[in-house]
Amino acid sequence: IDRYAVAGNPVAHSRSPEIHAQFAAQTGQALTYERLLCPLDGFADSMQAFAASGGRGCNVTVPFKFEAHALATHLSERAKLAGAVNTLSFDAQGWFGDNTDGAGLVRDIEVNAQRPLAGKRVLLLGAGGASAGALGSLIAARPASICIANRSVDKAQALIAVHQTYAQTLGVTLAATGLDDCGEGYDFLINATSASLGGAGVPVAASVLAPGALALDMMYGPAAAPFLNWAREHGAEARDGLGMLVEQAGEAFALWRGVRPDTAAVLSAMRLKLS
Ligand code: ATR
Repeated sequence: IDRYAVAGNPVAHSRSPEIHAQFAAQTGQALTYERLLCPLDGFADSMQAFAASGGRGCNVTVPFKFEAHALATHLSERAKLAGAVNTLSFDAQGWFGDNTDGAGLVRDIEVNAQRPLAGKRVLLLGAGGASAGALGSLIAARPASICIANRSVDKAQALIAVHQTYAQTLGVTLAATGLDDCGEGYDFLINATSASLGGAGVPVAASVLAPGALALDMMYGPAAAPFLNWAREHGAEARDGLGMLVEQAGEAFALWRGVRPDTAAVLSAMRLKLS
């Protein structure tokens, strides 16, 4: 039986095993999906052992996405842009590294929330790993512009430098700013900072929200609550990161198994369970 896993440290909290178990049941695919707690200095060894013992693929989470990018023998274009890998496939050709986080985010916004990004103005908060994973796919959705606002502006500028050529070919304008001067009236506000984990409030003024904007936090559960409450108080539609989580898993499952699972059904089930 084909084995899959999610590798991280910590990994006990990961919802991926139950999501992939539901996908497998839906599509009648015979597979197992487990949690792999890797030592902080032992990710490569853990992957080698897993691949050698029948592992066909692995999702990668904090803090190993950059190491997975370095270990992959070949990479998708979106993983190259992200500089990070959340999905590995082990096959005869080697270790293929992909990044499905951004595609999952865009699918959640456009399909689940029914908000097309094309031609709209997007404000992306944060310039760390979560932003890097999403930016390429956000550009691919062809908004008019994406402004990346970060506490350290140089990190936002560095992200833009990597994506500039791609954005230009699609006619998408990229800008980098600090959190205090990121402008007003965005159609989409996407929080990819970890500010809430440190107990910090929302790092931007409410004027960044256009009337009826969609405000999405990549986190879910209690960590997302302050941002989502703030967004609702200021008239935005608030969305947590659960849909993105399920959709990035759906993209990985489709890559591994060649079948697209019914992610909407799994998202509904997860919402019920977590509420
Ligand atoms: P992740 O993988 O979750 O993206 P990360 O790479 O450590 O984690 O990035 C965290 C992001 O949250 C960064 O953009 C960080 O801003 P800096 O680049 O300036 O460090 C942002 N962040 C963390 N704490 C924050 C806070 N209290 N206020 C504003 N931004 C914060």
